[in-house]
Amino acid sequence: MNNVRPESMVRITTPELAERFIEEQIAEVRAQVGDKKVLLALSGGVDSSVVAALLIKAIGKQLVCVHVNHGLMRKGESEQVIEVFQNQLDANLIYIDATDRFLDKLTDVAEPEKKRKIIGEEFVRVFEEESGKLEGISFLAQGTIYPDIIESDGVKAHHNVGGLPEDFAFEGLVEPVRLLYKDEVRVVGKALGLPVSMVDRQPFPGPGLGVRCTGAITRDRLHALRESDAILREEFDIAGLTDKVWQFFTVVPDIKTTGVKDGKRLDNWPVIIRAVNTVDAMTATVPRIDWDVLEKITNRILNEVEGVCRVCYDMSPKPISTIEWE
Ligand code: XMP
Repeated sequence: MNNVRPESMVRITTPELAERFIEEQIAEVRAQVGDKKVLLALSGGVDSSVVAALLIKAIGKQLVCVHVNHGLMRKGESEQVIEVFQNQLDANLIYIDATDRFLDKLTDVAEPEKKRKIIGEEFVRVFEEESGKLEGISFLAQGTIYPDIIESDGVKAHHNVGGLPEDFAFEGLVEPVRLLYKDEVRVVGKALGLPVSMVDRQPFPGPGLGVRCTGAITRDRLHALRESDAILREEFDIAGLTDKVWQFFTVVPDIKTTGVKDGKRLDNWPVIIRAVNTVDAMTATVPRIDWDVLEKITNRILNEVEGVCRVCYDMSPKPISTIEWE
């Protein structure tokens, strides 16, 4: 498989160029796999979603998508995967709710890198188990994109959820977007008719909400994280900030803070709002968010999210602070 982008390759910037790319890839994939079956780990991220949509167009039900919900997805994400791929595109989709497995494994694990390792390894295990139940799969599809090839010499970064076992006995890999840059993958995704909210999704770490529920993850704090994150996204959308801010999310640290309600003292969590602008995630600045927007988000989180009694806006640039809290 050619893994070097030819200098002559035109950058895909328009729907027309995307259409041409899609047609070429459909022909290439059909020639590669014939009537055999292809397996894809569909996380719901941009790259795997675009590969899924492309392969559904090329080979229909010969593609088997496995979506593993590790319980650390944002609110509504797994539901969107099911809605788009199963209901709208009629994909062959296997949905695995592995929430309990992941959260059980993560019980009392507070160290960030250990959490990342457990999430990555457990993902591979669940995927292996589920794909082991399937018969007659010949190819493995992956959402490898060109920066993955440049950065890791052809092997998709293993710290990420989606890093797959190396001892898989497949006839070959199907990587239709391996020569594309991220912006091109998005143009192709739109041409394939995927929802903009899926194609223009901001970066989301493989370990998901796991690194935003700092320290040892608990279900109640994870719930507060998911709900507060959903409110933040909703309000940024209403305020027209979704396209203007590169990445934004909430964090619920493993600390308690004092509040007061109806004359009673509370011992609840704070929610941190993190928003950054960056070009390459190596350095980042903090956008000046309109005070009214921040106030509305704060009030909604305090009123709607159980167990929270304080909201803070993280003002720290990178460096010195990383974008994620752990
Ligand atoms: P930091 O926190 O290092 O983040 O400033 C830079 C960018 O990388 C994302 N990030 C991750 N992505 N697995 C991922 O796939 C991870 O473990 C991980 N940690 C951080 C982060 O969201 C930001 O966009």
